[in-house]
Amino acid sequence: MSSDSPIITASAHSVPSYLNADNLGPWGIYLQQVDRVTPYLGSLARWVETLKRPKRALVVDVPIEMDDGTIAHFEGYRVQHNTSRGPGKGGVRFHQDVTLSEVMALSAWMSIKNAAVNVPYGGAKGGIRVDPRKLSRAELERVTRRYTSEINIIIGPNKDIPAPDVNTNEQVMAWMMDTYSMNEGSTSTGVVTGKPISLGGSLGRREATGRGVFVVGAEAARNLGLEIKGARIVVQGFGNVGSVVAKLFHEAGAKVIAVQDHKTALFDPAGLDVPALIEHVSHNGTIEGFRAETISAEQFWQTESEILIPAALEGQITAANAPHIKTRMVIEGANGPTTPEADDILRERNILVAPDVIANAGGVTVSYFEWVQDFSSFFWTEEEINQRLVRIMQEAFRSIWQVAQENKVTLRTAAFIIACTRILQAREMRGLYP
Ligand SMILES: NC(=O)c1ccc[n+]([C@@H]2O[C@H](COP(=O)([O-])OP(=O)(O)OC[C@H]3O[C@@H](n4cnc5c(N)ncnc54)[C@H](O)[C@@H]3O)[C@@H](O)[C@H]2O)c1
Repeated sequence: MSSDSPIITASAHSVPSYLNADNLGPWGIYLQQVDRVTPYLGSLARWVETLKRPKRALVVDVPIEMDDGTIAHFEGYRVQHNTSRGPGKGGVRFHQDVTLSEVMALSAWMSIKNAAVNVPYGGAKGGIRVDPRKLSRAELERVTRRYTSEINIIIGPNKDIPAPDVNTNEQVMAWMMDTYSMNEGSTSTGVVTGKPISLGGSLGRREATGRGVFVVGAEAARNLGLEIKGARIVVQGFGNVGSVVAKLFHEAGAKVIAVQDHKTALFDPAGLDVPALIEHVSHNGTIEGFRAETISAEQFWQTESEILIPAALEGQITAANAPHIKTRMVIEGANGPTTPEADDILRERNILVAPDVIANAGGVTVSYFEWVQDFSSFFWTEEEINQRLVRIMQEAFRSIWQVAQENKVTLRTAAFIIACTRILQAREMRGLYP
């Protein structure tokens, strides 16, 4: 979460004692989103408090011996926001600034995302307050294994299935799977997703999020009567998500005219050579140095386009740059790239926003396929995976579009209406135990 995020206080909400009521952080933003949707929940609104508190939040100490012989302690979390519709599902983030509030909010957004695309999961998220760049590979492995061991009591293929998130990858998932399996006494591939293919990972997982962003972008363009061929695309972030979505738009005949990463921003009105740019990044780790005009961050946000895709970090489209953005639609590849104030500005300016909870749900959808394949030990072809992914994303987007039209609300609120209704219907039908 960026440090200039608005301070959201607890006034209107009952807040657990373990959060700072004077600054709720990302959890406060999530609570506001639930408030926006409550009037549309009908009789299910009776259950809405369920969404405003995580089912379970585990805080653990992760002690490890460093390579120099000292002992270091890191704070770790695993939060299961809601499991009414199925086991918890959500990534694990290694970052020095991770907070409980952030992990709570991310777990809640996973509940919403999983319900919005209708995969049979609840929402969960995990994290460790650690800067992994400061650890050796052996230290990283020890942190991962000790953390997994500490949260072992609440995860499992039928309970809660972690996946990669910021600064975690296939290797980290392999260590998590191994640690869990060692504790169980049998190999349990389905305990995490985003694994290497050789350990029960799924084909198509690496490209899934970008592919889902592309499918949602294409559907939204169709609804606005916009041709993809020749459309001008601007992409922030050229990592896993940004590079794949840029490649797919390029292949569909669109022109990717501007790209920004952590180092620089590039512009080419005729369209960048995306495959060559991907090749460049694979050697250099950045788009910097590629043969194209460089532009400032300010120019980047003001570049005229038909589709703008934030695919880097949260809090990038703010009240400061939203008034100057010149595009027809924003397709959120990143999680939380648009602040609530910017959301309102874009709506007033008639710029369509396809929210993260649907636009980047391709990753968790193929994680779901991975989990299903692990259970049956029967693996699908990449073509089957992509076809199923496209169908799920299209169906989910079309339902959200219809609810937005019927209720005259934004796609974000529509996605929340569908998701919260599904979660609370499950809650109501299951009833309260005991
Ligand atoms: N990878 C997934 O499956 C997945 C799934 C859902 C959501 N997301 C979200 O998508 C976003 C990107 O994830 P990713 O996996 O592509 O990450 P990544 O690390 O592969 O790429 C991140 C990109 O953002 C760029 N970037 C970093 N800081 C920047 C800055 N200040 N300004 C401009 N660019 C900057 C980096 O240079 C890099 O190109 C994140 O918000 C992530 O939570 C990813």
